[in-house]
Amino acid sequence: MPSDSSHFSGNPTLIRKLIEEISLHGPLTFASFMEQALYDKEHGYYMTQTVQEDQSPKERIGWEGDFYTAPELSPILAKTLVRQVLDIDAQLGHPAIFTFLEMGGGNGTFAADFLQQCQRIAPEFLNRLQYSLVERSPYLQSLQKSCIRAVFTPERDGLVIWVASLDELPTQSVIGILFSNELVDAFPVHRVRSHNQCLQEVFVDYAEGQFVEQLGPLSSQALQEYVHRNGIDLHEGQTSELHLAAEEWMIQAARVLQQGVMITIDYGHTGSDYYAADRKDGTFVCYYQHTVSTNPYTRVGEQDMTAHVNFSALAKIGTECGILPVGFTTLSHWLMGLGVEEFVGDQDPESPEIQALSQLLRPHGMGTTFKVLVQKKGLESVALQGLRYRAFFDDVL
Ligand SMILES: C[S@@+](CC[C@H](N)C(=O)[O-])C[C@H]1O[C@@H](n2cnc3c(N)ncnc32)[C@H](O)[C@@H]1O
Repeated sequence: MPSDSSHFSGNPTLIRKLIEEISLHGPLTFASFMEQALYDKEHGYYMTQTVQEDQSPKERIGWEGDFYTAPELSPILAKTLVRQVLDIDAQLGHPAIFTFLEMGGGNGTFAADFLQQCQRIAPEFLNRLQYSLVERSPYLQSLQKSCIRAVFTPERDGLVIWVASLDELPTQSVIGILFSNELVDAFPVHRVRSHNQCLQEVFVDYAEGQFVEQLGPLSSQALQEYVHRNGIDLHEGQTSELHLAAEEWMIQAARVLQQGVMITIDYGHTGSDYYAADRKDGTFVCYYQHTVSTNPYTRVGEQDMTAHVNFSALAKIGTECGILPVGFTTLSHWLMGLGVEEFVGDQDPESPEIQALSQLLRPHGMGTTFKVLVQKKGLESVALQGLRYRAFFDDVL
């Protein structure tokens, strides 16, 4: 094993760690490689702040970073969601403590916009609100704290709190809403390929000075069960992803929720679209400075890695854990159902607000690639304005 890994682009210490692990324990599953590239405690992409060539801090998320998300684009997602949340609060009978649990809060922009909007239009609700952020990255937790602090001063201690993982929350401790935007696409995925009529897993080895992929049998019984449970059948030569971490997350979320609604926004598909023959290489991609690549072995620890979400699999495991699907729609249908046009009023079509909104609604962009899955627990029925216009028939999941 070479001691010098500088011929790789990426974080040299992280690369050395990965090479060492491979030499000690053999090839890594792709999921383990992705997990470490994104979430290694000291060197993972989301866990640390790095600097640019001129030594100024390098952002991860946003215009100055590698990719942007809906909350970074416009406060409209948060503002419309407040409208939906107030409606759900009424349907829950205005509980004494209403928890809004945001998972994977990024820079904290969504939380800051959400809290400001509550302050503006719903001060009574704010008195009962507990805004909890589940954020794995200490670095992003600190960004979230400053982003919120810059625009919002909590009127009482404990109005906004942080935990690193859902595991830290007691069972059935939430009455209210579980929310995430672009969290699930940031979970590590196992990659698989159909080869000689057999489903094989992609492993990452190190040979002749580079990371190389090799195929082998599925690495765990849990993956085999996942394939079976979700009826996954790839075409010969097709590569795709399996989302065990997303399932584990859904199980934890269902455990924590006592009564309320879970809203998951992300880019993704139903299972049948996800594994359709024309999606020959799956959905895995990397982002660096707003450029897309499919090579996870460059800029290791310095580029984002992501895969689309299989919403059918989320709905299925959720149902098994008692969190039941209420609806599934596209982001543009969701925003229109919530009366998004009222939030921009009669602004100039050239204004940044309208430009950002048209980006969110774009029929061949975020507006349709992004989906919204709504699930419920502990409620007989719930009517959501965001689901007024449905892009799909009910049994599509
Ligand atoms: C793609 S970013 C999305 C950020 C933000 N929601 C937005 O829309 O701008 C993914 C976020 O999820 C966090 N994350 C990833 N895995 C997590 C986990 N298991 N628990 C909590 N947060 C997690 C990352 O640290 C990051 O904040």
